[in-house]
Amino acid sequence: MTTPKLIFEYNTKNTEHVPNENAEVDLPNDLKRKELSIPDVNEVDVIRHFTELSKKNYGVDNGFYPLGSCTMKYNPKINEDVARFHGFANLHPQSPLLNVQGSLQLMYELEQMLCEITGMDVFSLQPSAGAHGELTACMITRKHFGAKRNKVIIPDSAHGTNPASAAMCGFEIVEVKTNSSGGVDLDELRSKVDSNTALLMLTNPSTLGLFEENIVEINKIMHDAGALTYCDGANMNAMLGITRPGDQGFDMMHLNLHKTFSTPHGGGGPGSGPVGVKKFLEKYLPVPRIVKKDDSYALEFNIQESIGRVRSFFGNFGMHVRAYTYIKSYGKMLKRVSQIAVLNANYIMRSLENHYQLPYNKTCAHECVFSGGSFAKYGIHTMDIAKRLLDYGFHAPTIYFPLIVKEAIMIEPTETEGKAMLDAFINTMKKIAEEAEKNPDLLHNAPVSTPVGRLDGVRAARQPNLRYEPVCRIC
Ligand SMILES: Cc1ncc(COP(=O)(O)O)c(C=O)c1O
Repeated sequence: MTTPKLIFEYNTKNTEHVPNENAEVDLPNDLKRKELSIPDVNEVDVIRHFTELSKKNYGVDNGFYPLGSCTMKYNPKINEDVARFHGFANLHPQSPLLNVQGSLQLMYELEQMLCEITGMDVFSLQPSAGAHGELTACMITRKHFGAKRNKVIIPDSAHGTNPASAAMCGFEIVEVKTNSSGGVDLDELRSKVDSNTALLMLTNPSTLGLFEENIVEINKIMHDAGALTYCDGANMNAMLGITRPGDQGFDMMHLNLHKTFSTPHGGGGPGSGPVGVKKFLEKYLPVPRIVKKDDSYALEFNIQESIGRVRSFFGNFGMHVRAYTYIKSYGKMLKRVSQIAVLNANYIMRSLENHYQLPYNKTCAHECVFSGGSFAKYGIHTMDIAKRLLDYGFHAPTIYFPLIVKEAIMIEPTETEGKAMLDAFINTMKKIAEEAEKNPDLLHNAPVSTPVGRLDGVRAARQPNLRYEPVCRIC
């Protein structure tokens, strides 16, 4: 397959669709430029170019996307329809409150529904992403303890954003190791908690895809020491209607609406990471709070101990509309989402356990983690397996994460895939395991069927150069 041209590399100048360069233009002379350093391309070629590129894009709408830790579930189109309602899509954030009662009601009710789902007492929809929710919770912790406590305990199976958020708030991070069965090592936790500990940030289910079995005990250890506890609830897709972080004893948590509640994500698009807290922490939540007075909705700004705004206006409102639509569409069936997400992950795990090494051999939650380490004897790494999957038309799973598993392969099928797709993926993974042993070069050279071959991912991440320098026709 040939590499697609960049739009700058076309040159269809002087064909009949290009406007006449010499045409009279009603502009002051000093604003007229002789040449512009932009592509010189026919309209039809522009259309063909971008249509062709769009066909090369891979998304959940055209295939299986088992990217662990990202919950790349199908985004129902009804969410999009509702988010495009004129009254939502064209709303000005500074409209008079009287004119936006419906939108305030939607956000108020979404907060109530998230409380019901998680067992928290109050929610704020302001944070724009999971990590932003974590930062908000760390700011609340800071406000609660002031300078009296400065340590945040984080298990090594937490999401990487947890320590980053705590560090941004100036906390000292203390790591706790995972035990041999994939849970928090309780003895180590006890030995690290002291009167300087402000917060425990725990991802549950963890990045190993495992539900923390000692969660009630862990919350008790922290509370006995006077510390707060925070659940990174970005993996709530495993727990909907089954168990609630609020009932497990957590004081605070965040949700990723763009994961669990099917609002689209990827490529840095708008997310939403609402934060929920127990009643005694409500006074610290960001302002404004949406309040209901009789039958109307208003904004409360005057909350003395609030951490203030963490985001302009109300957060990513379009995401709130989508999540609201999603939850209302499922109603009491929401529990099935998690039941099937967990079933699908366990089906994949058990189907592949004799082909790929399973570091923690126990029932998983919504995702399962393998190691590609057993293929080292054939000179094969996890990266080669992931790249070979592209040749078979699948998006690769998450690789080399979580960090505590060597050569990790993290697969999250989500509930929106049917058995036929899971079986196709499983059979392909088995085939790749066989190829690794019998014909490792197939993996070393993969991918061969994509528009571009193997890229230097590290260089792309560390030295991104997103600017094309066209041949300058002016200078
Ligand atoms: C467990 C967990 N926590 C936190 C985050 C961070 O969320 P965001 O990317 O929205 O900042 C993620 C992202 O996928 C996650 O999986």
